[in-house]
Amino acid sequence: MKILGIETSCDETAAAVVADGAKILSNQIASQVEIHARYGGVVPEVASRQHMLAIIPIVEQALAQAKVTWRDLDGIAVTDGPGLAGSLLVGVNMAKAISLAHGLPITGVNHLEGHVYACWLTGRSIEFPLACLIASGGHSDLVLMRGHGDYVMLGRTRDDASGEAFDKAARILGLGYPGGPAIEKAARNGVASIPLPRAWLKGTDDFSFSGLKTALLRLVEGGKIALEPGQESKLPSAADAAASFQAAVVDVLVTKTVAAARERRVKQILLVGGVAANKSLRQHLVEASPIPVVIPEPILCTDNAAMIAACGYYRFQAGKVDDLSLDVVAGLKLA
Ligand code: KG4
Ligand code: ZN
Repeated sequence: MKILGIETSCDETAAAVVADGAKILSNQIASQVEIHARYGGVVPEVASRQHMLAIIPIVEQALAQAKVTWRDLDGIAVTDGPGLAGSLLVGVNMAKAISLAHGLPITGVNHLEGHVYACWLTGRSIEFPLACLIASGGHSDLVLMRGHGDYVMLGRTRDDASGEAFDKAARILGLGYPGGPAIEKAARNGVASIPLPRAWLKGTDDFSFSGLKTALLRLVEGGKIALEPGQESKLPSAADAAASFQAAVVDVLVTKTVAAARERRVKQILLVGGVAANKSLRQHLVEASPIPVVIPEPILCTDNAAMIAACGYYRFQAGKVDDLSLDVVAGLKLA
């Protein structure tokens, strides 16, 4: 069963063809990151316009790369939320147009559920029940998954998501956008020597990262980080601050995820979402976990359409087919 996946929830226009929910035949992504970098973050109006320009070519490229025609496809999976409404609409309307023109069934996929299904593209066998940490720009959700499409929300962020925290910290340190890769790169040249606070929120599986961000901001405002040339001999550098910040986020994410997995006696831990591309997080989670950890390769952690197609396959298997009344839901929830 070959599924065309379409993803336009934020600033990547993506299309992919996946066979049987597991084999990637093509995976095309048109990134807008350089356009939004000028503004230091995603500008919703600009994102929708870019999706409009990119969507038809990217779908055509996905078919060409997979060496398939419309006739070879069995269905379309498209992200219907959560995300930016104007961006989501471009993908959903494209999917509806294809559905109508080529008589293909359509299924709407929750973007977060899509991130989880990137794990089915790794070739590893996935065993339920499992605990999944979805760490992205908008979410830090800890989820218990008991079967396909069966989620229990264990914890979520009470303020900033982990990716958002990386983006804000990078802005504070003047490291550019997007913040996650910028912090990771800077941290390689630094030492995690600055003690930064960790919000443990004991007794819950929730997260909080705004206190950590504020602590970093206070240090910068107080002139305690060497952001000007010549200060390095006396003060910790921006690289040290990046390393300290990354260490604090990784510490909290890893410790709380492993604790939740132990408590629920799950068989595996999955780590997904853009922040899962972070090498330090990947390494520390694997080292700390007593059970197998599945993490997609970095290109399948950040936004892509192969994960949407994989999730769509399991939705079609479960009979979850939508019709042309499918609409976008900017605040769509997982469980
Ligand atoms: O999943 P994603 O691509 O888009 C959303 O669904 O939000 O996640 C994007 C987030 C951004 O906040 C970005 O800074 C973060 O993932 N990110 C990273 C890394 N790569 C992307 N955070 C830490 N380390 C990275 N290497
Ligand atoms: Zn995402």
